[in-house]
Amino acid sequence: MIFVTGGAGYIGSHTCVELLQAGHEVTVYDNFSNSSPESLRRVERITGRAVRLVEGDIRHPQALTDALRQSGASAVIHFAGLKAVGESVEQPLRYYDNNVLGTLSLLHAMGACHVNKLVFSSSATVYGDPLHLPITEDHPLSATNPYGRTKLMIEDILRDLYRSDPAWHIGILRYFNPIGAHPSGLIGEDPQGIPNNLMPYVSQVAAGQRERLQIWGQDYPTPDGTGVRDFIHVVDLALGHVRTLAHLEKAAGCTAINLGTGQGYSVLELVRAFEKASGQTVPYSFAARRAGDIAASYASPERAIQLLGWRPQHGLDAMCADSWRWQQGNPLGYRPAQG
Ligand code: NAD
Ligand code: WQD
Repeated sequence: MIFVTGGAGYIGSHTCVELLQAGHEVTVYDNFSNSSPESLRRVERITGRAVRLVEGDIRHPQALTDALRQSGASAVIHFAGLKAVGESVEQPLRYYDNNVLGTLSLLHAMGACHVNKLVFSSSATVYGDPLHLPITEDHPLSATNPYGRTKLMIEDILRDLYRSDPAWHIGILRYFNPIGAHPSGLIGEDPQGIPNNLMPYVSQVAAGQRERLQIWGQDYPTPDGTGVRDFIHVVDLALGHVRTLAHLEKAAGCTAINLGTGQGYSVLELVRAFEKASGQTVPYSFAARRAGDIAASYASPERAIQLLGWRPQHGLDAMCADSWRWQQGNPLGYRPAQG
C-alpha cells in the first residue's frame, strides 16, 4: 500500500494510475484545496481498481497519523503542496505553512507509524538561474521566490533527517516542466482561474476560451529569443515515481533525481507543436519578460536513467496531442458542464 498525499492533483492522479497499473494499492490523502475528488473517480475508471481516499490536511497531525497508520502503507509519495510562484510572493506565510510545516507534520507521522520510505516532489526551480546546461543534480541550489524556498527548505530537512538516521529511504524528485495528460483524455491538469503555466494557457487559447497567448520575452539568448524549457509528459513523470519506489526498496539513502527529458524546446516551438497537434491556430503576441523567469532550463536525465532504468517515452507531439484531447473532452476541467 502506497500513501499518496496530494494524490487528487495533476501529477498525483496520473501517478495513482501508474501505481495501480503496476499492482500497488493506493490511499490518497488530500484536502482538495486545488483539486476535486472527481479526478480519483476517473482514476478508478481508467484502471478498474479502487482508490482509498481520506479527505484531510497534512497540517493536521492527528488526522494524518491516523490515516497513515490505518492505511498500513509501506511508503509515502508526497505531492501535497501549493505551487503557484506569483501567489507565493504575495502570500509567503501561507506557502511556508502549507508546504514546510505540512511536510514536517508528515515526517512526524511517518516516524510515529514506522514508515521510512518517502518520495518527495521537488522542482527544477531549486537550481535557480542555471550556471550550466544541461542541469545535473550537483548543480548549486538556490531559490528566487518563496515557493522555491519551500522546496529548498524541505530538501534540506530531508537531507538532515537522513544524516541523523540512515535507515531512511528518501527520493527527492526534481521535476522539470510537466505537461500533457493521460492518453484516455479522462484526467489532466485542471487549473483554477487564469492558468499560471504555459501549456494550460496555450490549450485554452486553442479552444477559444482565451483570446491570445502573451509570450513573455523575445530577447532571451536562445535560438528564437523565447524561453527554453524541458517539457516532460506527465505519464512519464508518473512512471518515474513507480521506478523510484522500486529503487527505494533496494537501497536506503537520500538521493535527488532529475525528472526531465534532457531536451529543451522554446515557447514558440511548443506553440507550433500544439497548433500541429490540435489543428487550431494559437494567436499570440510578445510582451515583456516575466519577472523572475530564466532564459533556458533543461535536465541531465542521466542519474534517472542509471539509477532507475527510467527513460521518458513521449515526445513533444504526444504531449501536445494528449493535452488537447483532455482540453477538448473537459473544457471546464472536472467541473460539470452547465445545464
Ligand atoms: P496540484 O495542485 O494539482 O496537486 C497538489 C495536491 O495537493 C492538490 O490535490 C491539493 O488539493 C493537495 N494539497 C495541497 N495542500 C494540501 C494540504 N495542506 N493537505 C492535503 N492536501 C493538500 O499540483 P501538481 O502540479 O500535481 O504538483 C504536485 C507536486 O509537485 C507539488 O508539490 C508541486 O509543488 C510539485 N511540482 C509541480 C510542478 C508542476 O509544474 N506541476 C513542477 C515541479 C514540482
Ligand atoms: C514556461 C515558459 C514563460 C505562460 C514554473 C515554475 C516551476 C515549476 C514549473 C513548480 C516561460 C513562458 C508562460 C504564458 C509565456 N513549477 N510563458 N506565456 O516558469 O518554467 O516553471 O512551472 O515547481 O517552479 O516556476 O513554467 O509554464 O510558467 O513557463 O510566455 O502565458 O513559458 O515565460 O518562458 P516555468 P511556465
